[in-house]
Amino acid sequence: MKPVRVGICGLGTVGGGTFNVLTRNADDIARRAGRPIVIEQVGHRSIHPDCDITGIKATTDVFEVARNPDVDVVVEAIGGYDVARQLVLTAIENGKHVVTANKALIAVHGNEIFQAAHEKGVIVAFEAAVAGGIPVIKSLREGLGANRIEWVAGIINGTGNYILTHMRDEGRAFEDVLAEAQALGYAEADPTFDVEGIDAAHKLTILASIAYGVPLQFEKAYTEGISRITAEDVEQADNLGYIIKHLGISKRTENGLELRVHPALIPKDRLLANVHGVKNAIEVMGDAVGPTLYYGAGAGAEPTASAVVADILDVARDIATDHHYRVPYLAFSGVGQDVNAV
Ligand code: HSE
Repeated sequence: MKPVRVGICGLGTVGGGTFNVLTRNADDIARRAGRPIVIEQVGHRSIHPDCDITGIKATTDVFEVARNPDVDVVVEAIGGYDVARQLVLTAIENGKHVVTANKALIAVHGNEIFQAAHEKGVIVAFEAAVAGGIPVIKSLREGLGANRIEWVAGIINGTGNYILTHMRDEGRAFEDVLAEAQALGYAEADPTFDVEGIDAAHKLTILASIAYGVPLQFEKAYTEGISRITAEDVEQADNLGYIIKHLGISKRTENGLELRVHPALIPKDRLLANVHGVKNAIEVMGDAVGPTLYYGAGAGAEPTASAVVADILDVARDIATDHHYRVPYLAFSGVGQDVNAV
């Protein structure tokens, strides 16, 4: 059976994790895909310390991967906005399917990217962009496809939850725990995105687009982070019977959709109050199914790689079935409802 050939751009936390999971679990993945999935080429500037790329074609020019005629699927794992946007558009232009974990890219440039992919007839998949290894995008799009979604609420930044958890449990200072989260590979290249709520707002924008079938409207989300929360705030909340969590919330209102990310006081006995460390948890309310919950690791190399590889599997099945398998990745682009700025 003809293999599906993957080009990985970037070998940092996400790209390195993807390389290792694809290599280690190659047999299981091939069985599920119905054909081998091979790494054809990697594009990287620095090598992930845990990655052995011996015998793999390598380049320092990621655009070479995007244009390589022997690559079927490009994994964009370089992060950021501008070069990532150019890279993804180049890959699409060259007829490649794209898999990305880049929530900033999807939230801000997704409408343009999905339009280009639609015109070219390729898939752009982004399960790993929201909540790391939790398959919440697939759940919203596929498992809950019958429902009118009423609201989505949850903890969607692992770094922030890691910081709040360790501040509360160990009385440690904000900066101290942030440095630890960075060392563990949880934080964004610019950790301001994590602690000022921007990363969570990117993710909420993507979730809302799929949940309600609206274009991506990141600029309409109310965005507040955790950087001003002190050890005293955490302790005071605790004394009053609450735990401070950073939440992303989207819901239907009389005036349209509302998107907001901010810290919240949660009673200690509530489910979201008991989500600790780098874990994420998202509650989704559908009119038919009622409340549902999605929980797991929200950041880190292999949890994120788990979602990236699941998307590569989707692409492989799409190729194997001559495009009869395709899930509606583009379902939310171009539908006309607006998010109401709050
Ligand atoms: N910095 C992100 C987080 C990585 O901490 O949640 C996963 O999206």
